[in-house]
Amino acid sequence: MGDLVGGEFARKVAEELDLKFHPIERRTFPDTEVQPWVKIQGELSDEIHFILRPKKDQNFNSYLVEFLVTLRNLKNRVEEVHAVMPYLLYARQDKEFRKGEPVSSKIIADLIERAGADSFTSITVHIHRTESIDNLFDIEAYNLSGFPLLARYAKQNYKLNDPFVLAPDDEALKWAKEVSKVLNADYDSIHKERDVETGEIKTKMPEVDLKRRDVIIIDDMIATGGTMISAIKKARKAGAKGVIACAVHPVLVEGAPENLKELDLKGLFTANTLPSVISKADVRSLIIEHIKQH
Ligand code: R5P
Repeated sequence: MGDLVGGEFARKVAEELDLKFHPIERRTFPDTEVQPWVKIQGELSDEIHFILRPKKDQNFNSYLVEFLVTLRNLKNRVEEVHAVMPYLLYARQDKEFRKGEPVSSKIIADLIERAGADSFTSITVHIHRTESIDNLFDIEAYNLSGFPLLARYAKQNYKLNDPFVLAPDDEALKWAKEVSKVLNADYDSIHKERDVETGEIKTKMPEVDLKRRDVIIIDDMIATGGTMISAIKKARKAGAKGVIACAVHPVLVEGAPENLKELDLKGLFTANTLPSVISKADVRSLIIEHIKQH
């Protein structure tokens, strides 16, 4: 199965799979340039699994350079490198909306490939118009779903009263379905409707009686928190008893966790694809299973 190279997050994966672990000392120069040093323990095997997530509060662009530099460094030394980036950066920029804008999702995928990845794995990639991660990469690419993990975390950590799974928009409906399967619950999404007269866009809650029910709102990520906060308010207005807000990626731009915490939620958590104060559901189990199977 090869060796594993990564930061502290990856160490547990190596331990579980009984792989030789080569840690990265993640150094940054005073001018912010990164110098990730792979501390090679003896020899590197010819097949490497490389797993790296950003450090706490690390700038995403600095992390991206760190990821690419390490990937190339490894590829210069061994035959095969299987790269795992738990949260794929820039995936949302998947269209040239205005002439001259970059289709960053494709450009970043190309950079990862050119840096030497023989396969690429991520978790709940924000596939909007891209449809499949295969459309981004020519190498083998895997998009593991973090939603069953969120559902299991909710089930194990909260007493759920007649739960209802709510997606904040139609795009998230398929994810609500995944969560509802594990919880054996109903699900639906908040719909957007255009007023035929005025053209104004309005949102509409599903026609379900939420009184005395716990509502679990799910999304792929919480960034500013705006989408989640709006859904929480709507669920409350519709009479929800307890509200649990969860997402796979805690992107959490400044102020988001504080704003959410003010809402007196029954629960607020994400997976740990990125480090944060609310990263609870451990995606390493998904990565371990994936490496075992490939
Ligand atoms: C939108 O397409 C995404 O699925 C999320 O709903 C969105 O990115 C969340 O962002 P924010 O927390 O800034 O509302």
